Amino acid sequence: MADKAREITPQTLRYTVPGMKPDDAELTVGLLQDRLNALNDLALTLKHIHWNVVGTHFIAVHTMLDPQVDAVREMVDTTAERIATLGGSPQGTPGAIVAQRAWDDYSLGRDDAIKHMAALDLVYAGVVAGHREAIAATEEPDPVTQDMLIGQAAQLEQFQWFVRAHIETTGGELPTEQQDTEAGAADAAPSTTV
Ligand SMILES: [Fe+2]
Repeated sequence: MADKAREITPQTLRYTVPGMKPDDAELTVGLLQDRLNALNDLALTLKHIHWNVVGTHFIAVHTMLDPQVDAVREMVDTTAERIATLGGSPQGTPGAIVAQRAWDDYSLGRDDAIKHMAALDLVYAGVVAGHREAIAATEEPDPVTQDMLIGQAAQLEQFQWFVRAHIETTGGELPTEQQDTEAGAADAAPSTTV
C-alpha cells in the first residue's frame, strides 16, 4: 500500500456550517474524503488479513483484527458524516475509493501471520502518516475536524503498536524497519510456517 503522490481535491459546496468560510470548508471536505478513502481501504484490508493468516500465530492475529475492524468502521462513519455535516457528499463506493486513492492494493494473500503483521505495519504507517498530514492541514480551516482526526490517530497509532509488537525483537528493534514495500517487509520478517 505504498503512497503515490497524494492529491487532495476540494469539493464545491452549496452550504456549510455557520461561521466557516466556504473555501475552508471545501478544502476540509477534500482532506476528509482522502481520509475516508484510507479508512475504508484499511477496514477492508484488515478483514482480508483476518481471513488469510495461517501459521502458529493464527488465532492471536485472527482474533486481534476484528476489534480493529470495528473501530476503523466507526471512524469511517464519523468521517463520512463530518463531510456531510460540512455540506459535502461523502464518496463511499468501491470505484470511487480505487479511483481517488494514492496507494496500491494490499499485496499479500494467504501467508504466515507474522509476515502479514510486517506488511500491515506498513499499511498502518501510511494511514497514520496521512492522518498526521491532515491534522496539520486542518489546524487553521477547521479545528473541529482536526479534533476528530486527532482522536482517530491516537487509536490508529495504538493499533500499529499491537501489530508491531508481533515483529519487534526483545531488544526493541524492528527487523523490517528499512523496508518500504509490503513484500519486502514480509520477506524481512521471521517466518513461523513452512
Ligand atoms: Fe471472522
